[in-house]
Amino acid sequence: MVLPAQRVVQPPAAWPPSPPAAPAGFTPRAQAWPPKLGGLRDVVRQELVSRQLDEQIAQRFGVLAPLRVLDVGCGQATHALRLARGGHQVTGLDPEPATLTAARQALALEAPEVQARVQLLQGCGEDCGRWFGPAAFDLVLCHGVLMYLPEPGPLLAALARILAPGGLLSVLVRNGDGLAMRPGLAGDWAGAVAALRGNGPADQPGSTYRRDSTDRPGLPARADRRETLVRTLAELDVPVRAWYGVRVFTDLAADEAPLPAEPELSALLEAEDAAARTDPYRQVAALVHLVGARP
Ligand SMILES: C[S@@+](CC[C@H](N)C(=O)[O-])C[C@H]1O[C@@H](n2cnc3c(N)ncnc32)[C@H](O)[C@@H]1O
Repeated sequence: MVLPAQRVVQPPAAWPPSPPAAPAGFTPRAQAWPPKLGGLRDVVRQELVSRQLDEQIAQRFGVLAPLRVLDVGCGQATHALRLARGGHQVTGLDPEPATLTAARQALALEAPEVQARVQLLQGCGEDCGRWFGPAAFDLVLCHGVLMYLPEPGPLLAALARILAPGGLLSVLVRNGDGLAMRPGLAGDWAGAVAALRGNGPADQPGSTYRRDSTDRPGLPARADRRETLVRTLAELDVPVRAWYGVRVFTDLAADEAPLPAEPELSALLEAEDAAARTDPYRQVAALVHLVGARP
């Protein structure tokens, strides 16, 4: 598919228009998150999502097309920088000043031509329609963000509006269909039963999301059901074209668990990669990665 000429999205002269409020409950989480980068759990997550994303980009656009990319909740910009290295024009958006500082420090280590392709902006994804026009981006990433919001609909609707015809929306969420796996495999029987009993009437079609649950550092974080997100994205005219599980076998690893040496690391990633695309394993992965496409 041939894309229209590259259009670089520029922020308004005064950015942001007003200081964005950090989302309730996120600041402590932001402080807890960066130290985990580079551990086994993080590497499995980032590597699998990268492979899945590259696969979808290649199928949809062909490998050479430079895309206009928005990474909402970019964090330390792992994916933003990776895509910019691949030649894409990337905007990273995040409400957390400390996180953006870390992202800017990482960007400063990149080659000048990569730096020139990246802009990092402060703001909440729900507000992106104020700054970017309709159809401004060919690829929008929303990875690990929805779990901190009370419901997924408003952010997904805002992102759908700025997605160009033919564009891809990549959404990574905690898997509301597999919440009993972690406590169950850890021998936390009460936790497993509570998670299983949560799969009750509140989760019937029509409910916006499954239920509240608790993320590893002990802060509240939601999980989303795939079926609900598939329905929401279809209603937003960004129907899901592919989905994957992420972290089927390594979710129980400690946050600080180090990477194994080669060749074990490659074998581990190969096993996770295969499980990520194989039923029923992917259905109960810790995370679900959905890729929707604007017709
Ligand atoms: C767990 S990190 C994920 C970072 C990155 N997307 C990744 O997958 O590696 C979540 C990020 O979402 C950001 N965030 C939280 N609420 C947000 C919102 N309403 N809009 C945009 N970003 C948000 C946080 O500041 C944080 O950097």
